Amino acid sequence: MTTNLSLRGEGLAKQKPVFLDVLANIWDPVLNPTGVVNLGLAENTLMHTELKQFMNSKQFSPHIPLHPSHVTVTSGVSNALECTAWGLFDEGDHLLVSRPYFNAFRTSFSTRAGVGLLEVKLGEIDAFSFAAVEHYEEALLSARKEGITVKALLLCSPHNPLGRCYSEDVLREYMRLCGKYNLHLISDEIYALSVWESPDLPEATSFKSVLSIDTAGLMDQSMDFGATGLRIGCLISQSNQRLLEAADGISLLNFPSSAADSVATSLLADDEFTTEYMRTNRLRLAESYKFVTAFLKRHEIPYSQCNATFFLWIRLGAVVKDPNTTDDEILAKLRNLKVYIAAGYAYASEERGWFRLVFAHPRPVLEEGLQRIAQALEL
Ligand SMILES: Cc1ncc(COP(=O)(O)O)c(C=O)c1O
Repeated sequence: MTTNLSLRGEGLAKQKPVFLDVLANIWDPVLNPTGVVNLGLAENTLMHTELKQFMNSKQFSPHIPLHPSHVTVTSGVSNALECTAWGLFDEGDHLLVSRPYFNAFRTSFSTRAGVGLLEVKLGEIDAFSFAAVEHYEEALLSARKEGITVKALLLCSPHNPLGRCYSEDVLREYMRLCGKYNLHLISDEIYALSVWESPDLPEATSFKSVLSIDTAGLMDQSMDFGATGLRIGCLISQSNQRLLEAADGISLLNFPSSAADSVATSLLADDEFTTEYMRTNRLRLAESYKFVTAFLKRHEIPYSQCNATFFLWIRLGAVVKDPNTTDDEILAKLRNLKVYIAAGYAYASEERGWFRLVFAHPRPVLEEGLQRIAQALEL
């Protein structure tokens, strides 16, 4: 196993605070009688037990059972991603990500840590297909020819903004690619629990965590992963302890607040509540999707069918009266009627005319917003 940290990541790992070793080895009269009795630190960071139970539950089905030592808790997923940016990359290194992608990946990877996003164009190719993997390989090879250092491949599964999941076979193919070129695989799984039954895609691929796949023979295990709640994220690696140590080196900047910690702990510890919460969430998301897509169909607005997250990737450019209307002009028309949605170009959309609409809102909000969109664009 190689840890393959960046130079600065090695530097950070060496600065891992000693008290984190204490926290990882807390004395318990039965479970850990040789541990350290911690009378020195006033902070309670004991999320790990609950997270361990939660992460080992059927939602993520890890192939190797998760142990607290595989997890670093951070103040959000952006923060977990930024920890990988410091730990795995030196300034100017790149990662591969296909278009469109979640706009704030630029913030997490580039703004402070100076990691470049090497955008992979997919054209007409389905982002969740085997063919897409080949495009990553081509992009990697041409970047290497230009002397660009590519260290990792970034997936978002379920995908923001496309709202779909990668199948196990396709994930394996990405792992194989990472193994072949010695790349880290970073999988942002923040929407793992927001997968619902879509009337458009009854046979849709459901969520499969990278943690659930046996990587033997595919890649040298080094996988990093994020999940969320309440401004709490987890960076998980079952093979690259050094990466977690690098994250721990800057943990003072990344701890979740005690308030978020205790709210998340009580939520995760309540199985009955979380099961019911997730069930209701899925039903409501499916309902809202049905409602919004009925509007889109009625107005012949093309959209990308999906079964996860709460985003609809819609093509307003196809229905404006004047086909030369720019995306900014469409946004201005919407703004005039006080309705806001995000422009696709912010997500590195390959084609103009696309927008991202969030449908996880109560019916009256959706009705008002959609009615304003229709009015603004004279549909
Ligand atoms: C794909 C993805 N990753 C990360 C984040 C950020 O998560 P957090 O608020 O926990 O930093 C978001 C939030 O929108 C997201 O959509």
